[in-house]
Amino acid sequence: MIRVAVCGACGRMGRLVIGQISRQDDMKLVAAIDAPGTPSAGEDAGELAGVGKLGVKIVGADKLAEELKRSKPDVLVDFTRADAAVKNVKTASEAGVSVVVGTTGFTAEQQAEIERAIKKGKIRAVISPNMSIGVNVFFKSVEGMAKMLGSDYAVEIIEAHHVDKKDAPSGTAKKAAQIVAKALDRSEDNIKIKSIREGDIIGEHTVIFSTPEERVEVIHRAQSRETFAAGAIKAIRHVIQKGKPGIVQDMQDVLGLR
Ligand SMILES: NC(=O)c1ccc[n+]([C@@H]2O[C@H](COP(=O)([O-])OP(=O)(O)OC[C@H]3O[C@@H](n4cnc5c(N)ncnc54)[C@H](O)[C@@H]3O)[C@@H](O)[C@H]2O)c1
Repeated sequence: MIRVAVCGACGRMGRLVIGQISRQDDMKLVAAIDAPGTPSAGEDAGELAGVGKLGVKIVGADKLAEELKRSKPDVLVDFTRADAAVKNVKTASEAGVSVVVGTTGFTAEQQAEIERAIKKGKIRAVISPNMSIGVNVFFKSVEGMAKMLGSDYAVEIIEAHHVDKKDAPSGTAKKAAQIVAKALDRSEDNIKIKSIREGDIIGEHTVIFSTPEERVEVIHRAQSRETFAAGAIKAIRHVIQKGKPGIVQDMQDVLGLR
């Protein structure tokens, strides 16, 4: 049985991940953490997630170290915000708990800080700005398309999300830009990213390759956040079965797409 702690347990993603964990035969929710001083402290995480009582109470992140010691999870899943995730990963690493991080919006320094903590604690880790299977196949297609079309094509990325999304451009758009830049041996600065924040759009990404004569577009549209939670479930299993101590893996490793 894989023992799982979820950080961001009251959030949109955290609640879906808890719901999906409750339906797995090989997983058990053992801790549910939200922001320090959360008004939901003491409430049942399963009830908050709409899947009925799970007997796990929401705890504030100020008590994360104690909570990990008490509940002894194998994996901590983090869907919070960038500054919080950095702290949570450090605490998990000190406790020897592996991590699956879906949080986005890290600066280069925050990313480096997280990687240092993972290396120091020799914990196993999967970090991915987008856990959906479709998006990870989309990344592969974008890479192949860039290599096949070559450097005569201008590249532009358009991403659209709901108005509450905190970071822009999205982590997924930035990752697509990195992939294209690497495939074309071009600087990321030459790839324009346009961000749209409108209504309740779950997540749409379009990569456009163009010359004055033609355009090729690769599009991914997420229709439900459950797709990200399902990817997180795969990442939890992978990190325990195939994770490597001190090494950060991503969904390409989880899905065998590398
Ligand atoms: N990787 C993916 O596939 C994927 C998919 C969707 C969203 N995301 C990212 O996941 C993150 C969360 O998204 P969301 O839509 O669930 O946001 P949300 O705002 O609904 O939820 C975030 C939750 O984190 C809690 N939180 C804040 N500080 C915390 C702390 N220190 N410790 C524990 N919890 C804390 C908040 O109180 C909130 O309940 C964002 O960065 C988002 O971009 C990633």
